Amino acid sequence: MKDKIISYLREKGFLVTPEALEEIMKEDAPLTFAERLSEEVSGSIIDVEQIEQVRRPKEEKRIVYEPSSPFNPPAKEIESKVVVFDEHDVTGKSLSEGKVEDFIDYFRDRFRRLSKILKERSGTLVKNIEALKKKQYADEIRIIGMISSLHETKKGHVLMTLEDETDQINVLIPKQNRDLMLFSKNLLPDEVVAVEGVLRGTLFIAQDIFRPDIPMKTPNRADEEVYVAMISDTHVGSKLFMEKNFVRFIDWLNGRYGDAKQRELAGKVKYITFAGDLCDGVGIYPGQEDELETDDIFKQYDKLAMLLENVPDYIEIIAISGNHDAVRVADPQPAIPEYVLGHLKDLPNFRSLGSPSYVSLHGVEFLLYHGHSIHSVVPHVSTVDYKNPEMIVKEYLQRRHLHPVYGEKPPICPEKKDYLVIERVPDVVQVADVHKNGYMTYKGVIGVNAGCWQNTTPYQIKQGHHPTPCILPVMNLQTGKLNILHFDR
Ligand SMILES: [Fe+2]
Repeated sequence: MKDKIISYLREKGFLVTPEALEEIMKEDAPLTFAERLSEEVSGSIIDVEQIEQVRRPKEEKRIVYEPSSPFNPPAKEIESKVVVFDEHDVTGKSLSEGKVEDFIDYFRDRFRRLSKILKERSGTLVKNIEALKKKQYADEIRIIGMISSLHETKKGHVLMTLEDETDQINVLIPKQNRDLMLFSKNLLPDEVVAVEGVLRGTLFIAQDIFRPDIPMKTPNRADEEVYVAMISDTHVGSKLFMEKNFVRFIDWLNGRYGDAKQRELAGKVKYITFAGDLCDGVGIYPGQEDELETDDIFKQYDKLAMLLENVPDYIEIIAISGNHDAVRVADPQPAIPEYVLGHLKDLPNFRSLGSPSYVSLHGVEFLLYHGHSIHSVVPHVSTVDYKNPEMIVKEYLQRRHLHPVYGEKPPICPEKKDYLVIERVPDVVQVADVHKNGYMTYKGVIGVNAGCWQNTTPYQIKQGHHPTPCILPVMNLQTGKLNILHFDR
């Protein structure tokens, strides 16, 4: 493992001191941590001090109330600039009846959208599978297909079946191609990939495999200093909702909490993004009723409304649905219906959208997705676990899909259009669901899991999760930098 880490970091242009290497080995997922170091460390040598810096929460100072100074929030004078890209939100457009034909249409659409992205990268090299089988091309060519099966052969090669709209073919990844064998470990069923190789009889021998991926992004930034406070998973209605801490957060937004610097920051918050699980819901899992303060779903949303009406009205709140909210659990999720929202819909600065949704805040594009699909990816992919849930963002972006695995929990609703394909490359991806804060960047795109405002449940302990409640990331939209505020103490 040590050699792997050294060579990985060397590839990324870093040298690591022996002491730092020992520290990396103490992590539960040393390779994932090495990857994080390569993204966060500046310079070319990784030493113990830099490791401590990466481990350390970005802002450790406790929030202390300084009531005497006046609070004049500059964000109040700034016009809000919100653009919602409706075409990517399923709300009001769900046509699926869950019939076999719906699934065929859904997978066809998924394939077309992802293969279009792959074709843009592959140009004229690409042939369809039917043409490939008819004409024995002597040179290397590329095919694009959806992985319908994948397994290791008795001789240690990997054999996968790739399907396009014309036919299907068996693709062999020879065990001698070590890089490709390693790459194949994280391939997922139903993923759409391009394979470069040669045809030998009925077998296509893979020489390289490409994901749709994203290009290196030059991020959009706001032209003035405004901030977004990122929250998720409040679970109002649960006995474990940390109401006092949440009220403190709202007090901070109003300039009634925090030291001078933190209150200055509060005054620049123009937006709140809220990535789902607004309320705890009812009947979500067996025995949930014992953990509920109220089992009336309408009262849960009304309580949230009572809290959010104290958010200053110049701050726009953009909320999406989560799997605990009063809406279907299958992805893509529509917005929470108005009749459930109750008093929330009377708040002029609150809007409810589906998951996923794309929204531009002061010119910075956010992809908001609750992130329930992480549970079907973790069992297949070694680079994501529940301790580093933000790393799922890289997997989504590389596959250009938010829910790559079909047929496992959580479910996908077969819409005519695949709303889960990442067609726009965002500047920021906010995910939630696993109640643990985490931050990462991939090719210029920032990934954030904003944690939760619910205390750890017995169910989460059983699942081995490590929630980090009441830690608030606040992003400067002009620079992309994050400030991390602790309301957990
Ligand atoms: Fe949640």
